[in-house]
Amino acid sequence: MTMQKASSAATATGDRIYLSPPHMSDAELEMLTAAFRSNWIAPLGPEVDAFERQFAEKVGVNHAVAVSSGTAALHLSLLAAGVKPGDEVVVSTLTFVASVNAIRYCGANPVLIDSDRASWNMDPALLEDELKRADGAGRRPAAVLAVDILGQCADYAAICAICDKYGVPLVEDAAEALGATLHGRHAGGFGAFGAFSFNGNKIITTSGGGMLVTADGKLAERCRYLASQAKVPAEHYQHEEVGFNYRLSNLLAAIGRAQLQRLDNLVDRRRQIFANYQRQLEGLPGVEFMPEFAGSRSNRWLTAVLIDETRLRCSPLDLCRALSAVNIEARPVWKPMHRQPLYASARRRGGAVADQLCRRGLCLPSGSSLTAAQQQRVIDVVRTTILSATKRRAG
Ligand SMILES: Cc1ncc(COP(=O)(O)O)c(C=O)c1O
Repeated sequence: MTMQKASSAATATGDRIYLSPPHMSDAELEMLTAAFRSNWIAPLGPEVDAFERQFAEKVGVNHAVAVSSGTAALHLSLLAAGVKPGDEVVVSTLTFVASVNAIRYCGANPVLIDSDRASWNMDPALLEDELKRADGAGRRPAAVLAVDILGQCADYAAICAICDKYGVPLVEDAAEALGATLHGRHAGGFGAFGAFSFNGNKIITTSGGGMLVTADGKLAERCRYLASQAKVPAEHYQHEEVGFNYRLSNLLAAIGRAQLQRLDNLVDRRRQIFANYQRQLEGLPGVEFMPEFAGSRSNRWLTAVLIDETRLRCSPLDLCRALSAVNIEARPVWKPMHRQPLYASARRRGGAVADQLCRRGLCLPSGSSLTAAQQQRVIDVVRTTILSATKRRAG
């Protein structure tokens, strides 16, 4: 998704409206400047320590490890969960490629699971069937990697019970879901590990960055060690296994701390944006909004709608093009991994639901800095495009 300039510079009518731009305030600049002045300009320092502490508290987990990206958090989570070359890892097919790439970084093989219609996330019935069959065949997968797509938790009441039953560790890809909850518990805290992204398009950003969370202090330490080139404490650096350069810059952690303080407001704003789109567009024929399933409170990272092309004669891509023509960025929903040339040969269970969500899905501009006037511009273009397609069809 496209990188963007800061919100204040992008509010004038006629400016490009981005899908999910960074939303900075004076607090971020002040904390960044203070960190700069302290001369802790390194991938460690007091801002990193404080960011980890405050993040863990916010998400309700014991430990947080700040890293350079959400992908790094996923890679370390899988390694710490014990994933080895040749293993299988069961993963949602409807996701961004980073989830599945992290499995390949470990030399393991993904098994792709379709979405359910209630949450758009991993279908628990298919997961159960896969683990049951694998168990019967004596080949238990090394981990389950469930993704919280578009800011909504997967059905963890079911998924956690299934993973427990078959003794498979759960890693939660909450890259898009910071601030979402399920039955009052925070996204990211449901598995043995949770991974978050602070990429420029996420609900809070450090330009690039990520966080790994876990309840297990020893595993958190192992992840910190692996993220710092696996240095064994000794007078001369000593290395006994391959590590990674995955730690987060102290300067970026300062931005992250300021963003984290604003998280609740940023989520509320995204939810208002979703509600306004819903109020103004749901009445149109053939337009359906992403559901929020029972007990779930999505952060509404991106407002996603399903377009019924057979009723409208207007596809999500037609709408994207109409919006793009007036300088508005919109995107289809993720293309499932089983449709990607890279993972087309991976073993999979189902895929028709994810295919349909991709074919019919459209994400509308949803950044927390979107002004009422900008949102109205988007709504007007969507309405006009849909209504003129409907008229053409009738005529
Ligand atoms: C579902 C999902 N997983 C993982 C990632 C990877 O995060 P990052 O870009 O910080 O590496 C992203 C986003 O970029 C994502 O949307």
